[in-house]
Amino acid sequence: MSTYSNSPPNKFSVENVHTIYAPGLTKQDTLCYNGSMPQLTPPKIRDFKTEGRKIVALTVYDYPSAKILDAAGIDILLVGDSLGNVVQGKVTTLPVTLDEVIYHSEMVARAAQNALVVVDMPFPYCQLGADEAIRAGARILKETLAGAVKLEGGESRAATIAALVEAGIPVLAHCGLRPQEIRQTGGFFIQRQKEQLFRDIRAVEQAGAFAVVLECLEAELAQEATSIISIPTIGIGSGRHCDGQVLVFHDVLGYTPEQSPALKHVKRYADLHTIIFDAAKKYAQEVQNGEFPSDAHSFR
Ligand code: KIV
Repeated sequence: MSTYSNSPPNKFSVENVHTIYAPGLTKQDTLCYNGSMPQLTPPKIRDFKTEGRKIVALTVYDYPSAKILDAAGIDILLVGDSLGNVVQGKVTTLPVTLDEVIYHSEMVARAAQNALVVVDMPFPYCQLGADEAIRAGARILKETLAGAVKLEGGESRAATIAALVEAGIPVLAHCGLRPQEIRQTGGFFIQRQKEQLFRDIRAVEQAGAFAVVLECLEAELAQEATSIISIPTIGIGSGRHCDGQVLVFHDVLGYTPEQSPALKHVKRYADLHTIIFDAAKKYAQEVQNGEFPSDAHSFR
């Protein structure tokens, strides 16, 4: 018997991913060979809004962490360009490259059994227009198993979003605070400007985005924004009335280089900084005083 005979079927084998769409079939009727396509898709995420089901998203950048989040039932695993800040230790997201994003996304998407994996378009691929955005988005879909891209921008990126969607590349839009514009704005500010925000979210909805991230909006503004569009809003620092929430992995888990207070919009659910620091100290002590390795950790 093969070592692998008890493994679940490879969800990406041709039989498993071959879904049959036929004219006249409803979504419920959609056929799928052997029914083993559990992964969330952009249309399923979009439907969460009408189903009244909150969307839960977290950023993640590596295989073991993605495995854990996926098993815990997180709906969207976002390979954010925040990897520049939290993984690479850089000051902004601007230096993150397409190759780096693809490197991390490949690991994350390979781990995901249920979650939709969304990958940030690094600066400046969508700023360069539709052709460059499609080239970058296509590389992401071809070289990883990710299901969608995210891009920052509203009204001014609508044509690019429409071109991506037309090319078969699903888009999660990102309005409100846009970290890729930090050099222009000079800092991260709470967003309170209603007219432009509403133009932005209506434009990305019209362009075919399946959902939109709203970053750092005044809570009441985010609530009103959520009520005027048909696609889900996924808030970060935008209050409780969005259709879902996203946070950065390292912030939520207290996995920070220094012991710093959490940002106002972050709830810290664990203190990995202390757990890792204490474990590393203990390991160092035990090696130094000869306690490790003991007989239990030695071969005979
Ligand atoms: O890059 C990122 O992590 C993000 C989230 C903060 C939404 O864009």
